[in-house]
Amino acid sequence: MPSNRHTPRSVLVTGGAGFIGSNYLLAAVPTQTAVRFVNLDALTYAGQRENLMSLEDLPNYAFQQGDIADRGLVERLFESHNFDTVIHFAAESHVDRSILDPLAFVRTNVLGTATLLEVARQRWKSRGDVRFHHVSTDEVFGALGPEGFFTEDTPYAPRSPYSASKAGADHLVRAYHETYGMPAVISNASNNYGPLQYPEKLIPLVIQNAVSQDPVPVYGMGENVRDWLHVLDHCEAIDRILRSAPDGTTYLVGGGEERSNMDIVHLLLDLVDEALSREAGSSRRLVRFVTDRPGHDFRYALDGSRLAADLDWRPSRSLEQGLRETVAWYLANPEWLEQTRSRTYDEYYTTQYRDRIDAGNPIQAR
Ligand code: NAD
Ligand code: DAU
Repeated sequence: MPSNRHTPRSVLVTGGAGFIGSNYLLAAVPTQTAVRFVNLDALTYAGQRENLMSLEDLPNYAFQQGDIADRGLVERLFESHNFDTVIHFAAESHVDRSILDPLAFVRTNVLGTATLLEVARQRWKSRGDVRFHHVSTDEVFGALGPEGFFTEDTPYAPRSPYSASKAGADHLVRAYHETYGMPAVISNASNNYGPLQYPEKLIPLVIQNAVSQDPVPVYGMGENVRDWLHVLDHCEAIDRILRSAPDGTTYLVGGGEERSNMDIVHLLLDLVDEALSREAGSSRRLVRFVTDRPGHDFRYALDGSRLAADLDWRPSRSLEQGLRETVAWYLANPEWLEQTRSRTYDEYYTTQYRDRIDAGNPIQAR
């Protein structure tokens, strides 16, 4: 079992007010009391400082609002906190938005990552007790057909501005390791779900619309397949990789739970009906087949055997159990959904999302 112990003491977490970063910090800060965490987040539409209020009084946590591409700010933070670890979550993360505004994705995901790497390189020089962990995505490998799995050796073939910008960031991390010897690791994860996910993504969007009985948009015919991973399983894998993976390695983190979008949507609608004591199956009528996402990747599926063999990590939650808990969380936190919903109806939702619903699905209509 290859391993290369890294012991974090002073950690820069980027994007910690987003979905995965919040779940990571809420789990790590109260339990890893000897580790100091600084959360650098620009608080874009996707970031919510309120997610982390329970941490604000803890002595090992600090929040800094700011942009990862602001080199002066990143330098000042390294100067003040002498970081030995970067866990880099910050990104523009939504594929549909990347189709509308690709340069925002290039700026944050490519230039922002390059800025962090460059400041870390200059501060760390040849230190060996440091580590840069890039939190990346399986989308860098492109799209699968009905068979087969991505492995760590699958060639990169991104197909959306989002995945191309994440691929660019992965390549920069690898280049800094190869060229400058920076101790770095990359994890490429599949679709996450769980509490605190911004309701532009499929799972919270379906739950929100089922609760309010609004139309549920399904792209194309709902046949695309994703491999679903509970966010807390992902966070545990990140910690395992951060502390134990050899420098310069990549690990795929998958949930081993492939489902078509239609199956996921029906499952969620049924779970909401059950939880709200509505007639079984009654919310299925909310489904609207709408215009497909351009370049929509057909299927993602990960072979997680390297992570299991090397670091003894496997997901601990089944999809059914995880979705049941997730539906219960959103139903118990209506104020969280309400607060984010008000940010949801921005330009993106008026220009693209509502149009999609109104236009219906040209394929189905033929
Ligand atoms: P998210 O959109 O919920 O959160 C992103 C966070 O980054 C937000 O808090 C936002 O304010 C912050 N941010 C954006 N631009 C910034 C900038 N320029 N400077 C500082 N902060 C900035 O995203 P997420 O779903 O939590 O994803 C986190 C990371 O995990 C991303 O890198 C994403 O590519 C990767 N990932 C996500 C998934 C998934 O299913 N959500 C799966 C695999 C990998
Ligand atoms: O695979 C990892 C990736 O998973 C992450 O890197 C991304 O940050 C994350 O957003 C996610 O990307 P997807 O594009 O797969 O997630 P999304 O929730 O946007 O869509 C999931 C599937 O559901 C996809 O096939 C598109 C479809 N979909 C999505 C929405 C929002 C619909 O059919 N209707 C919708 O309204």
